Amino acid sequence: MITNGTSKVCGVMGCPVEHSISPMMHNYYSEQIGNDMIYVPFLVQREAVGDAVQGAFALNIQGINVTVPHKQAVMEHLSELDEGARAIGAVNTLVRTKDGYKGYNTDAEGLSRAMKEAGMDISHRACILLGAGGAAKAAAYVLCREGASKVYILNRSLKKAQVLAEEMNGLFGRPMCLGVALSDWSQIKEDHCLAVQTTSVGMYPETEQAPVEESAFYQKLDMAFDAIYTPMETRFLKLASEAGAKTANGLGMLIYQGVAAYELWNPGVKLPDDVIAGAKELMLCHLEGRA
Ligand code: ATR
Repeated sequence: MITNGTSKVCGVMGCPVEHSISPMMHNYYSEQIGNDMIYVPFLVQREAVGDAVQGAFALNIQGINVTVPHKQAVMEHLSELDEGARAIGAVNTLVRTKDGYKGYNTDAEGLSRAMKEAGMDISHRACILLGAGGAAKAAAYVLCREGASKVYILNRSLKKAQVLAEEMNGLFGRPMCLGVALSDWSQIKEDHCLAVQTTSVGMYPETEQAPVEESAFYQKLDMAFDAIYTPMETRFLKLASEAGAKTANGLGMLIYQGVAAYELWNPGVKLPDDVIAGAKELMLCHLEGRA
């Protein structure tokens, strides 16, 4: 990659940030389409988020992805918030404006596009959302916005599920979300559901775990999406697949949140499908240790 005085600079801030595969993805896009942009990792400690945003602005940095643990803390340092990011209460992408950075949440766009690509139609579907943390908020927003008939929010802590359900019901002005304790999943009477798994259960190295073990739960599912992509097939997806459900892992979500960010930083650019497919293959190689 050749950079020069006119190169646009973007990056990702987080702590830790060393494991991030976003630099590989964004630099691949720039190389493939011949865009003069470089993307670098920034290790930012919790107490330095405000300074980092101010410093980035002073350094003329065009865009920044924000990852754990700064997705909420960064919000007070922005000049503007996109409607979706405000509703979700978390920001993962900053875009430079005249006065500061505008915050977006492209995780929601990433999930939405990945589910569409996997042939998972949300509209008029009874959905089961597992988890009520940060990732679940973006997923709840997508499920409500795209017309789920009902969203059961299943979480180990019932209170958190209920709070998220109320937030979304208030936001969308109809009572479509209901908080349910994870152990009470059998209270859900619907079948043919679409499930979206956003807890950390089953993520490497705890790959033998699933948030729900009983096979009767998986019989309720027509489709199952897991936001996890390490491993590629979580135990949750394996159980869903064995019960006959269509499944998809979180790699697509990772890819498309990146595409959405890249296109926000480069107005007028639309990444071609074959370039996106190439990035997916690159990520796959990397994650499977083949690269
Ligand atoms: P993220 O930003 O990735 O969503 P988070 O906000 O810390 O991370 O949320 C983690 C989610 O995983 C929560 O829904 C959490 O459930 P609680 O709210 O009850 O803590 C869920 N989770 C984590 N470990 C779990 C476990 N062993 N069993 C069930 N749920 C678990």
